Amino acid sequence: MQRAGVRGGAPQEKEGWHGWDAYAPFYDWENAQTLGRRDVAFWQGLATRLGGPALELGCGTGRVSIPVARTGVPLVGVDRSADMLARAARRRRRASLAGGLSLIRGDIRHLPVRRGAFRLVMAPYGVLQSLVRERDLAETLEAVARVLQRGGVFGLDLVSDVPAWQEYTGRVPLRGTFRRGVKLTLIESVRQDRRRRLTRFDQDYIEHRGARRIHHRFSLTFRTLSIRQMTTRLERAGFRVEAVLGDYAGGPWHPEADAWLVLARRV
Ligand SMILES: C[S@@+](CC[C@H](N)C(=O)[O-])C[C@H]1O[C@@H](n2cnc3c(N)ncnc32)[C@H](O)[C@@H]1O
Repeated sequence: MQRAGVRGGAPQEKEGWHGWDAYAPFYDWENAQTLGRRDVAFWQGLATRLGGPALELGCGTGRVSIPVARTGVPLVGVDRSADMLARAARRRRRASLAGGLSLIRGDIRHLPVRRGAFRLVMAPYGVLQSLVRERDLAETLEAVARVLQRGGVFGLDLVSDVPAWQEYTGRVPLRGTFRRGVKLTLIESVRQDRRRRLTRFDQDYIEHRGARRIHHRFSLTFRTLSIRQMTTRLERAGFRVEAVLGDYAGGPWHPEADAWLVLARRV
């Protein structure tokens, strides 16, 4: 795995990339019970229609990258979390991939790839919501415009319901068997900062191994813009918005849509 574009130094408060290393062991377990694979065919379809080379921002554990690379489209996945990427690399070893999959450790605000290298850039499952300040988003859109070919497509997906989550403290949204002999309980608290459009999830995953309990505590912060705010920023960054969709079957967007998908062309 390559490593590029990750700046050193002490982490600042409330960076959107914080928390993902600690979340990595539990990410696939949780998502198997929530989003599952319902968005995967959409990204595979987009990639096969447009062809590669394609880039996935925040590829994580390879939940989307592996099935996209299986279609034969060459793909590069960038993620800042070494622990998420280690899981993607393990999946890659087990998979038979028709296209190639390169994994790069890097920050999506400073994409460590060549100008104009891609025909498609994908940002599935709310990756852009991990950009918690206006300048983080601006830097990322600028970086995407740089690495896309003219006429190339940027596809992004926002998790729309995050700002509507009720605030609570110490709820148990998930519990179950993690692996043989290990049970898992998630204890979660949610805080909303509506002025800054930030939602913070404080998570405590408790592993139960017989009488032992091991706590894994971390926080994830997300910033959710309205669809209009996002399309305005895309246009400002040199994209033409071509479609705003409300589900993974390609249906139109509406305010209660459960998926917010934007397809924008680099002009
Ligand atoms: C919601 S997960 C999505 C993972 C994968 N795309 C999927 O659909 O399952 C968000 C991912 O973005 C990564 N991430 C967050 N901020 C980042 C940044 N500034 N640069 C690179 N990766 C980042 C996290 O490490 C995490 O793996």
